[in-house]
Amino acid sequence: MPNDSRTMSLIAFLQAQNCSNYVGSWRHTLSMTDFLTPDYFTRIARTLEDARFDMAFFDDRLAMPDIYGRSHDLAVRHGIRSVKMDPTPILMAMAGATSHLGLGATYSTTYYEPFHVARLFATLDLMTGGRVAWNVVTSLNDSEAANFGVSEHLEHDLRYDRADEFLEIVTDLWSAWDSDALVLDKDTGLFADPAKVHRTDYAGKFFRLNGTFPVPRSPQGQPVLLQAGSSGRGLRFAGRWAEVVFTAYSGKDAGIAQYQAIRRAVADAGRDPDTVTVAPAVGVIVAETEQLAQEKKALLADLARPEDGLALLCEVINTDLSGRPLDEPFTDAELAQMSWHGLRDRVIQLSGTANPSVDDFVRYSGRGSLNEGATFVGTPTQVADQMEAWFTSCCDGFVLSAASVPGTYEDFARLVVPELQRRGLSKTEYAGSTLRSNLGLPITDSAKAATVEVGR
Ligand SMILES: Cc1cc2nc3c(=O)[nH]c(=O)nc-3n(C[C@H](O)[C@H](O)[C@H](O)COP(=O)(O)O)c2cc1C
Repeated sequence: MPNDSRTMSLIAFLQAQNCSNYVGSWRHTLSMTDFLTPDYFTRIARTLEDARFDMAFFDDRLAMPDIYGRSHDLAVRHGIRSVKMDPTPILMAMAGATSHLGLGATYSTTYYEPFHVARLFATLDLMTGGRVAWNVVTSLNDSEAANFGVSEHLEHDLRYDRADEFLEIVTDLWSAWDSDALVLDKDTGLFADPAKVHRTDYAGKFFRLNGTFPVPRSPQGQPVLLQAGSSGRGLRFAGRWAEVVFTAYSGKDAGIAQYQAIRRAVADAGRDPDTVTVAPAVGVIVAETEQLAQEKKALLADLARPEDGLALLCEVINTDLSGRPLDEPFTDAELAQMSWHGLRDRVIQLSGTANPSVDDFVRYSGRGSLNEGATFVGTPTQVADQMEAWFTSCCDGFVLSAASVPGTYEDFARLVVPELQRRGLSKTEYAGSTLRSNLGLPITDSAKAATVEVGR
């Protein structure tokens, strides 16, 4: 959202699991192993709030990576995202340890129901005083389908059609209670004005819903919507709904083109692109000297195992690649079957071949390894220089991916944030108490804050 005094949004990418999205991270000597306890997450939350991060958000996957070799053996043996807890209770633990940090969780429009998600996130938003975001995903593979009693994952574009209906319902439910609906007048006995609480009647291709939503409006009106799809259909969906777009760039030049494409998609949907925050995932490896940073990077890169990338790749393209020669090109028919079009198209583009092989996919998808193109390495000044160059050309903020936990967050908070603050690029204080106000997102009619404060 360009303007003269803009500051970058800082968002931390978290996983409710044993590792970060860099699977080798759990093997790092300094990685904490108490990831099954709230302490692990509340420590991170406090570090992020001290550094004035806008938000921490959790990705999600509704199955173990068990498509490679049709077995969970490798994933469990090597800790390849083999733990995946529900992010929402963890988010509440982090909320209790902080007062301003925004908190987001990924929830799937393919496997959950609109009423459930609307009520869960509306409640979380109330319980955190308006600090919650929902990362809308359509999920990726047949293992997730199987966990919900479905034999096959829904086709790519149909998933987005279903997601559109899902969002139509959820946003309608979230606006069911007008911001001044609650009265709480004990003398007259009027609890709330029924004329200001609206019923939802919806009949679509995927969903029917008839009812009155039982959760009043929160201090930020409604939770913030995040989205991360990158195909043509995914971008159309983001253009219509996303308030924060979480994306991945392979480098600055690719980022400039993607940034424009996202902003165009928002404008095409009749919205103002300056009201949407675009934040690519980046890694940061920082130290007091350049040499120390390079040594740190080498140590981290050494933690990756070749099978990590393969297992994670099978998971996201929904295909078992075990036994396939690594240099055999995928046919057009196989490429058409893959469930993540955005990733597939990125590999085709970066590899320069229309029919990439498994090797190409491992190399250019960055799965299981440090993503070279989007990892800033160096001293605090060098890292801040690179972030500034992206911020002034192709994004409004960053989603910080950890190469070790809590190491990446702590190093970034202590070394890079003071330099960003000194340059006026990141905030030194929170603008308000809600996530929406800290991200500078507009308060639309449907996102009007509650005017009655309960229990104060
Ligand atoms: C940066 C990024 C992060 C994502 N995180 C998740 C996630 O946590 N869980 C999930 O199921 N899908 C995730 N996805 C997948 C998308 O939600 C979407 O299903 C996928 O990108 C396929 O859509 P596309 O072909 O439009 O890209 C992510 C995608 C991107 C680009």
